Amino acid sequence: MVEIRWLGHAAFLIEGSKRVLIDPFITGNPLSPFKAEEIKADLIVVTHGHGDHLGDTVEIAKKNDAPVVCIHELSRIIAKKGVETVGMNIGGTAEVDGVKVTMVKAEHSADVEEESIISAGDPTGVIVDMDGVKVYHTGDTDVFYDMKLIGEIHKPDIMLVPIGDWYTMGIVGAVKAVELVSPKVAIPMHYNTFPVIEKNPEDFKKAVEERGLNTEIVILKPGESYNFKI
Ligand code: NI
Ligand code: MN
Repeated sequence: MVEIRWLGHAAFLIEGSKRVLIDPFITGNPLSPFKAEEIKADLIVVTHGHGDHLGDTVEIAKKNDAPVVCIHELSRIIAKKGVETVGMNIGGTAEVDGVKVTMVKAEHSADVEEESIISAGDPTGVIVDMDGVKVYHTGDTDVFYDMKLIGEIHKPDIMLVPIGDWYTMGIVGAVKAVELVSPKVAIPMHYNTFPVIEKNPEDFKKAVEERGLNTEIVILKPGESYNFKI
């Protein structure tokens, strides 16, 4: 069984045999019920360098002695801050501490708030495979047709999908994304953090149901978790 806890925005803590933290934007995240220093993690995965995803990665990584898995270019930037990194790239699977992380593409942009940065690498999505449960965190993205391929090849059990619009796909795109990937469960994210991404997740759930998709939509409040058994 794995437990998936939403920390608000795109931040999730997935707990099984290890604690995997994804996109830990905690400080300055108005939805986060936790403080960064309270978070315990064995492994941190970052989809791209934007501040609302990289967030407290460096501080939490140092405090927990946790390696950070991300795209190669971003890993070089973070490594300079004295954090252990696992740099990888799109299409690859890295096994760290018994957890498999597969990197897939995302339709978005990426930089990092740092001087003299030429490239912080492309934005990505990740599939975390722990204890036989596969969780696909799309990162920030629009819907893209290759999500069908991601669904066919990786068969994610759970999909974490942005619905907030403005910076990512909105509800219409997210419904199509769920249809293309066809996970067992989808959890909406990246909404209601800021005024421009205010959305009602019930509208997303209703739209998925009206389309007759087999995916169950689970809506979490920030801080709440969902248990998934194979
Ligand atoms: Ni972004
Ligand atoms: Mn974002």
